[in-house]
Amino acid sequence: MDLPLVIVHGGAGSWKDERLKVGVEYVEKAAREGFSCLERGGSVLDAAEACTLFMESCGELNAGRGARPNRDGELELDAMIVNGADITFGSVAAIIGIENPISLARYIMERTDYSFFAGGNAHRIYEQMISEGYREEKTQGVVMGPHVSSTSDTVGCIVVDKSGNIAATSSTGGIPNKAPGRVGDSPVMGAGAYANQCCGASATGYGEHIMRVVLSRTTVLYVEEGQSPMQAAKRGMEIFEQKTGSEAGIIVADAKGRWGYATNAKAMPVAVLAGNGLKVTSFTCVNEEKQQEET
Ligand code: GLY
Repeated sequence: MDLPLVIVHGGAGSWKDERLKVGVEYVEKAAREGFSCLERGGSVLDAAEACTLFMESCGELNAGRGARPNRDGELELDAMIVNGADITFGSVAAIIGIENPISLARYIMERTDYSFFAGGNAHRIYEQMISEGYREEKTQGVVMGPHVSSTSDTVGCIVVDKSGNIAATSSTGGIPNKAPGRVGDSPVMGAGAYANQCCGASATGYGEHIMRVVLSRTTVLYVEEGQSPMQAAKRGMEIFEQKTGSEAGIIVADAKGRWGYATNAKAMPVAVLAGNGLKVTSFTCVNEEKQQEET
């Protein structure tokens, strides 16, 4: 169990085999992005934002630039960031015209009196964020990551620093062919992600179903009750499948640097970078039964 730790998922779903390689490649790059932010002295929030922003901007995952369009052909994005230290969060839903909702979610958490903005008026908060210089805009709607000097799907990550502070994120373009205005689990506290001082979790899958079992909060509770993150991830997915019959995936990490993952979808790319940061563990979390159905 090594700290610090970054664990990343690139979305659970029915990935085509050739796309899975790309998914694993990009979650690995995202984990490195988050880890190097920590190494440069960034906080868990800086690292979680940097890691998620990378996935939003890479164009290869269902978030930010690479998000699936809604039925009107627009990229309508949802994102959330959670600070485990005080269980605060910032969320944005159904926003159009920006690439990096994760930075806006963090701005909402840190600089406004609110936690959650949606739709056209969320864009006004984005304009406020840029005008205040909280984040610099590279091109319209695309922001630079947090400045840390040397001195089939949703993406998400959990970052734990050497002191055991935890941040968790989720970011998505939502489900295929979604109706304009539809919002899933990703920006919903406890559903798409959750973190407290003990543990963090980030979920992926059908938001309508994930919200019914508040999947991230439920899974973290299992760790608080004494299960390991791996046991909790599996238990969370069992309960999810029992109650909804649907597909999802989850990553989990606790303040001690233990981590876990599970999916009942065909596959979910995962990357973990921990300890001295020299070795990234990246792999595809698979559901054996669904894999066999495909072959
Ligand atoms: N988990 C992404 C969504 O349902 O929108």
